[in-house]
Amino acid sequence: MTQQSSTDTSSRRRVEGVKRIVAVASGKGGVGKSTVAVGLALTLHAKGHRVAILDADVYGPNVPLLLGIRRRASVDTEQAMVPLASVATSSERPEPVVRHGLTVFSLAFLVGEDQNILPGNASLAGLLIRQFLFDTLWGEQDYLVLDLPPGTGEPQATLVSQVELDGIVLVATSQSTALLDTLRSYHMFRQAGVAIIGRIENMSYLLCPHCGESIEMPRSEDFVDSPFAAVPLLGRLPFDPSVGHATNSGRPVVLTDKGSATTRAFDQIANGVNAFFMGE
Ligand SMILES: Nc1ncnc2c1ncn2[C@@H]1O[C@H](COP(=O)(O)OP(=O)(O)O)[C@@H](O)[C@H]1O
Ligand SMILES: [Mg+2]
Repeated sequence: MTQQSSTDTSSRRRVEGVKRIVAVASGKGGVGKSTVAVGLALTLHAKGHRVAILDADVYGPNVPLLLGIRRRASVDTEQAMVPLASVATSSERPEPVVRHGLTVFSLAFLVGEDQNILPGNASLAGLLIRQFLFDTLWGEQDYLVLDLPPGTGEPQATLVSQVELDGIVLVATSQSTALLDTLRSYHMFRQAGVAIIGRIENMSYLLCPHCGESIEMPRSEDFVDSPFAAVPLLGRLPFDPSVGHATNSGRPVVLTDKGSATTRAFDQIANGVNAFFMGE
């Protein structure tokens, strides 16, 4: 089926050395995009793929933290904008870090992890993401996973118009606010002619630690009639306190808790992503 596109796709570029770019998106913050991006990237790597991850959330770069890469020192300038502007104009190529087998790059490598960055400057967000994508020394990769900020502003607008994205994984919880906001992302990518690989329901149930019973989170009735319901479900992740511990310790659950429901769900999700690209 050909998707209708209202975006000029002629200026879209591929990233050298990278076979597939998969972006993890949602209309909402706090629904688990970064958790999913990191878990998916690590699971694809465990399945034998060469995987890189770009922390494209320039407003709240969390990927380094989730992978246990800390950079506490702030940059020695009054405003973090100064080093950022120099990166955006410099000819030096950003160097990624390798952690747990993943090739990683984040804006957080350039500034202190708690520094306020990009104050109100959306166009700089697009510029930086372009530079990070096209200039970082990624090497040869089967997958480059992008962890996006919430919403449909920048850098998403720059990404859909200037980068050849191979597919989107949408993350939402089952409540109506997350669903509605994520539908906006869904429409943006569809209108731009970017393939939606599937959706992930995060924190959609809870496993009782005593009896193992599954307690379902309430699901919005809006869901049933929404176009979202027709998007293939890649997997459902439980609300898992281990994910909270993993966030604090920088040791992702898929590495430390191999038999858990969360790790099994990530396995299924990664299989779904691979299956989407099978036969290419
Ligand atoms: N399945 C889950 N179970 C428990 N906590 C989760 C789960 N997914 C995400 N979280 C927690 O929710 C918070 C937001 O997750 P995060 O991945 O940073 O979301 P986003 O990137 O969408 O803002 C984090 O504290 C994370 O540890
Ligand atoms: Mg995030």
